Amino acid sequence: MPVVGFHQARRPRQTPMTRLRRELSWPRPGGVLVSLVGAVLVFGGAMALPASEAGAPSPAPVSIPSTTPDTSQEHAEPTPAATLLASAPATTAPSSVSASGVSGATITPSAASAPLVKGAAPDSPIQKLFAGGAATPTDKALLDLANPASTLVLLNKRNPLVPLDYTPKDLVAPAIASGSGESMLLRSEAAAAAERMFAAAATQGVGITVKSSYRSYATQVGVYNGYVANKGVAAADSTSARPGFSEHQTGLALDIGDANAGTACDFTSCFAETAAGRWVAAHAAEHGFLVRYNPGQEAVTGYLPEPWHLRYVGVAVAQDMQTRGIPSYEKFVGLPDAPDYG
Ligand code: DAL
Ligand code: ZN
Repeated sequence: MPVVGFHQARRPRQTPMTRLRRELSWPRPGGVLVSLVGAVLVFGGAMALPASEAGAPSPAPVSIPSTTPDTSQEHAEPTPAATLLASAPATTAPSSVSASGVSGATITPSAASAPLVKGAAPDSPIQKLFAGGAATPTDKALLDLANPASTLVLLNKRNPLVPLDYTPKDLVAPAIASGSGESMLLRSEAAAAAERMFAAAATQGVGITVKSSYRSYATQVGVYNGYVANKGVAAADSTSARPGFSEHQTGLALDIGDANAGTACDFTSCFAETAAGRWVAAHAAEHGFLVRYNPGQEAVTGYLPEPWHLRYVGVAVAQDMQTRGIPSYEKFVGLPDAPDYG
């Protein structure tokens, strides 16, 4: 079965984000050898397996060691059974959140000086938003597109999580309808926002279910390898993020379905025409969510449209993007397009 080793996901070319991460002296990803060992993938905790995301097949069986990573394996070649190399160093990151849409405890007026948001282009819309008085976290480390604990974190094929195996610290199970029967997890701020969003949709007669939410690095290994096994690398890369590159791993993303439309349009383009798809396109921003992968943005985001994939960024950012008619987070923060892994 053709399964892709992570060594094929080369480190991204230098971008402002990667340079910033290096300047911040964050630990470079070490190596964790992840071996494909059989028919059972042991996922941690209450991971919701998005086996059907965009029609994904069942994930390839992978096991991941729970011991300290062996960095000597960083450049190991995959075995015929396939291997995945993961980054290793754990990180400590702020986890407190506010209602502002930016993780952080107390809100203070933003300083007049710009740029405020690390990693974003100086003249980007996001800088103007915060320079213009949008609520700013007291913990300035959260105003950083490379900080995985920030609700502003930007992930794409040129900007992976650091560390690649990052795990959020404040995952909770939101009280929203699961469309898969599995337990779902999101970061606490995103979970509360999702509860409000689902309730608001319900008051307008629109039933939304959640099909996938937080996915660990290990889960994404299985999902991505499943796509590769079924469709090949190129097709897999158009619909599924490689491990360490998925917004689902931040605990800030969820995939939704329409509770009243059956499953025919789950993870397919026709979801955009369902009541739930139309409703989130119009109203998700009111609750702090973006429809992250929009039509016509494939060369920017690197992915085919996913009208079911919502990403929490906070109300201020989501509504400003919507008001300005900016169709990608990349453009909102002024970062280069990320059509591929470089
Ligand atoms: N389907 C999106 C790109 C993900 O795998 O995160
Ligand atoms: Zn998704």
